Amino acid sequence: MTVPIPNQRIFSGVQPTGNLHLGNYLGAIRNWARLQDEYECIYCMVDLHAITMPQDPVELRASTREVAASLLAAGIDPADSIVFNQSQVPAHAELAWIFNCVARLGWLNRMTQFKEKAGKDRDNASAGLYTYPALMAADIMVYKATHVPVGEDQKQHLELTRDVAQSFNSQFGVECFPLVEPLIYGEATRVMSLRDGNSKMSKSEKSEMSRINLTDDADTIARKIRKARTDAEPLPGDPEGLEGRPEALNLLGIYASLDDAPVADTCQHFAGAQFSAFKEALTELAVAKLAPVTGEMNRLRADPGHVDEVLRQGAERAAALAEPIIREVQDIVGFLRP
Ligand code: TYM
Repeated sequence: MTVPIPNQRIFSGVQPTGNLHLGNYLGAIRNWARLQDEYECIYCMVDLHAITMPQDPVELRASTREVAASLLAAGIDPADSIVFNQSQVPAHAELAWIFNCVARLGWLNRMTQFKEKAGKDRDNASAGLYTYPALMAADIMVYKATHVPVGEDQKQHLELTRDVAQSFNSQFGVECFPLVEPLIYGEATRVMSLRDGNSKMSKSEKSEMSRINLTDDADTIARKIRKARTDAEPLPGDPEGLEGRPEALNLLGIYASLDDAPVADTCQHFAGAQFSAFKEALTELAVAKLAPVTGEMNRLRADPGHVDEVLRQGAERAAALAEPIIREVQDIVGFLRP
């Protein structure tokens, strides 16, 4: 049976490792919540991806619940969108194997995330870390999803997803998979560290002061913003004046994104201001926008049974969509299904 390619179906994923930070929120999760009204959406805690790096089993399980709670707190409605964890829908791993046999070593060798995560000791990286992008392609294609909202850092992986889909289609002479469109938009597609405007805000950065977590309370947010690195100049009146000023660019981008306004408006508003005054305004805005999410997370944390039930039902709904597609793929590839 051929499963038709949907007109518009969204898929996206997040690794359930540690707390979500402002980069995850502004670059991805806030957009996920907003897309629900327009599209059919599937959102996944990618625990299979998480174990490409060593994880403590107890912490992985706890983080999966915690990250799921953050998604719900950020406004993702499980009555509407599908929310689940990847390991509970086996079709992801099944399609990933097939994609491992479609993806070329040359393509995987170009992936910058592998190079960054493997570091210098490449021989010691897991084979899973290397084939990570094939699993990511499978996550998306096992639903024939057409659009993927992500931050800038995932762009290369989505290009590989298109290559794998196209290569599969042409190898077997079928129109099975769509060519996925990345949705990368807003003023914060790449939120940078508060300590270094040239490196990405990330969970793996050692210093807690480098990022604002969704679990941070108002005092912690204020302290982190107060300590954020800046330069000595007052703020410029337009975005051109941010060139060569990565920290200023980052903080103004965060403000604009939280304020849902273009960066040009933020520049105009703070033209000539000192960072001290701007930081106070940024703190106030960040606390106002994040407090409701943090509050809801705390409420959900007290009710792990609810989160587990959301994930259970989500996995059931996801599997119902994925199963006919994996069967179609097995037929195309030539697997006997007695
Ligand atoms: P992950 O868990 O690293 O990040 C989740 C989402 O947050 C975005 N993001 C950021 N956006 C802006 N600035 C930042 N500093 C920042 N840091 C993270 C990411 O771009 C991402 O959208 N490989 C993916 C997970 C994944 C996936 C998928 C995504 C697995 N399968 C299929 C989309 C479709 C990852 O590690 O995201």
